[in-house]
Amino acid sequence: MQGKTVVITGGTSGIGQVAAEKLAGMGARIILVARSQSRGQAALSRLREIAPGAKHGIYYGDLSRLAELRRVGKEIAAAETRIDVLINNAGAMFGQRQVTDDNLELTFATNHLSYFVLTHELREPLIASSPSRIVNTSSHAHYRGTIDFDNLQYQHDYKSFPAYSRSKLCNVLFTRVLARQLAGTGVTANSLHPGFVKTRFGDESGGGMARMIGLMKIFAISPEKGAETIIYLASSPDVAKTTGLYFYKCKPVEPAKLAQDDAAAERLWDYTDRLLSH
Ligand SMILES: NC(=O)c1ccc[n+]([C@@H]2O[C@H](COP(=O)([O-])OP(=O)(O)OC[C@H]3O[C@@H](n4cnc5c(N)ncnc54)[C@H](OP(=O)(O)O)[C@@H]3O)[C@@H](O)[C@H]2O)c1
Repeated sequence: MQGKTVVITGGTSGIGQVAAEKLAGMGARIILVARSQSRGQAALSRLREIAPGAKHGIYYGDLSRLAELRRVGKEIAAAETRIDVLINNAGAMFGQRQVTDDNLELTFATNHLSYFVLTHELREPLIASSPSRIVNTSSHAHYRGTIDFDNLQYQHDYKSFPAYSRSKLCNVLFTRVLARQLAGTGVTANSLHPGFVKTRFGDESGGGMARMIGLMKIFAISPEKGAETIIYLASSPDVAKTTGLYFYKCKPVEPAKLAQDDAAAERLWDYTDRLLSH
């Protein structure tokens, strides 16, 4: 990873933090995208301790807010001369339905729209830096996800796990279309499941779901183990040309039937595109 620049969201905690630190240890220059100044500065300081030679950087923005997402994406695209890897990883689950300032359901905005918008903003620099890679953190929760285009943001009947599962299904569908669109550009796009990992995930979800995740964490793997597939997809020569696949434990695995539905994938892309152009 010497001489390579990696942009990562969710690098201030959990698997994203471990991935950023390990990739920095392998020689990469890391660009964090974070919402919290204190957590961001702490993560950046650790990167500077691990690999003082590289000019690691940070951009601040709340990834659930469209204006901040777009601003951060444009700032990175304008400032960075090359982007070798984009890791879309920030994500969360919410016990209650919440709506952002853009009038978007918070899970959908944080977990799906942030991947879509940041990738869109960094698409040209990624193509210009090719061969390059996009790595999207999804989840096996996507196997439980459904798509209902008339109620995509759970305007009614919101439940936290179904909303989360749908957003993670969106990650796999998004990656599928992205890989096809980028074919021939030298930019690959893959998604992954990290495993059930003991991180801060769920701690701030609220309600019964947070308590349940908290209890189940005794069965969870370490963030170091959970980050392995992200690091593999971001750095391994084995997958330099692999694109459009879903990985678990550093191996491609078959995603849900619905996640392989090209019509649903295209429809989600168009829905998202239309939503963002309003
Ligand atoms: N843990 C698991 O078992 C598991 C399983 C499958 C998939 N995943 C996926 O793995 C990814 C990483 O989760 P994790 O387990 O490492 O959880 P985590 O420890 O809670 O980390 C989540 C990261 O996302 C960032 N983030 C969340 N909302 C954000 C926002 N609005 N703007 C900017 N940054 C935001 C957090 O920033 P702060 O530091 O500011 O909070 C943090 O860096 C998620 O996409 C999750 O869906 C996790």
